[in-house]
Amino acid sequence: ISAPITPAVDPDVADNFAFAFDIDGVLVRGGRPIPEAIEAMKALNGENDFGIKVPYIFLTNGGGKFETERCRDLSQQLEIEVSPGQFICGHTPMRQFANRYGTVLIVGGEGETCRKVAEGYGFRDVITPGDIIKANAHTAPFRRLTDTEQGNCRDLLEGGKKKLSDIVVEAVFVFADSRDWASDLQIILDVAQSKGGRLETRSETFTEGPPIYFSHNDVLWSAAHEHVRLGMGALRRIVETVFEDTSGGRKLKTHAFGKPQVSTFEFATRLLQQWRATQHGLTEANPPRTVYFVGDTPESDIRGTNAMNEKCKDTEWYSILVKTGVYQPGTEPKYKPRKLVDTVLDAVNHGIRREM
Ligand code: G3P
Ligand code: MG
Repeated sequence: ISAPITPAVDPDVADNFAFAFDIDGVLVRGGRPIPEAIEAMKALNGENDFGIKVPYIFLTNGGGKFETERCRDLSQQLEIEVSPGQFICGHTPMRQFANRYGTVLIVGGEGETCRKVAEGYGFRDVITPGDIIKANAHTAPFRRLTDTEQGNCRDLLEGGKKKLSDIVVEAVFVFADSRDWASDLQIILDVAQSKGGRLETRSETFTEGPPIYFSHNDVLWSAAHEHVRLGMGALRRIVETVFEDTSGGRKLKTHAFGKPQVSTFEFATRLLQQWRATQHGLTEANPPRTVYFVGDTPESDIRGTNAMNEKCKDTEWYSILVKTGVYQPGTEPKYKPRKLVDTVLDAVNHGIRREM
């Protein structure tokens, strides 16, 4: 067995600081790069007044694709090579649950993609809302599966050998934004109100549903429209509210990954350390003194970075808010950044100048 190859230390690389970027509203909007983002990446890759290269990673709450595929998109949009070794999306940390649960309900995303991503993470028995509708079309009265969906969805009844009530969902994971809020809401609530996750059953106490995890909690996000759009956090709020309204006032506690959770920033810290080592030959024992986190959403990006800064002793986490996304210039952000700038290019220049 040969030892992993660690590259020689790159003499032009900054060993005492690094950057981490949010994607939507900072680098990309509605699938198109924000023009300054391309310049910002060039600056990090050495095209700056000091000729220094700065390590960086990406930390988005978005998802719904394989990490490799999302990195390919980002490489094209930003005109650089983006590696999965420097990328975390909303559902990446859900990978750690693959061995904990048997049958899981995976919600969100385009077509069959999230099922495939979950199976790629190692989840053993993945069902989707489409599978349930295929088995019982009355589940969502106004949702008709297309012929393609009928063909792709699993036959949970195994040709008539099984009933839906034979299936017990052990956990629900909302991987990506719902493409059909009505049927997804109905099915998540059905499972939440079931007897221990058993499909087609109803609990008398409404206290025995399986855990429900959302890959993030962004109520709003920045897409192509001039005004912010509703995100997965809005669906989470609806699920919790309607559960309470239809369960005699019982509260439903769901869980969210992603920013602003400090655990997500800790996950990012480990990724950054590995990336600095494998890409730049820097030792993992010496963490950067400062990580500049550039985001557009005060509630997730700035709140999380500031909380991480409070908690982390070795590294200063320095929050920078841009004006190209969710944050509305002229308003008072609910969570205060260390620095407010116009664009991601200003953020990168600010960090580099502060260090040099
Ligand atoms: O659905 C994606 C969105 O809520 C946020 O993405 O890159 O701004 O964290 P991002
Ligand atoms: Mg964003």
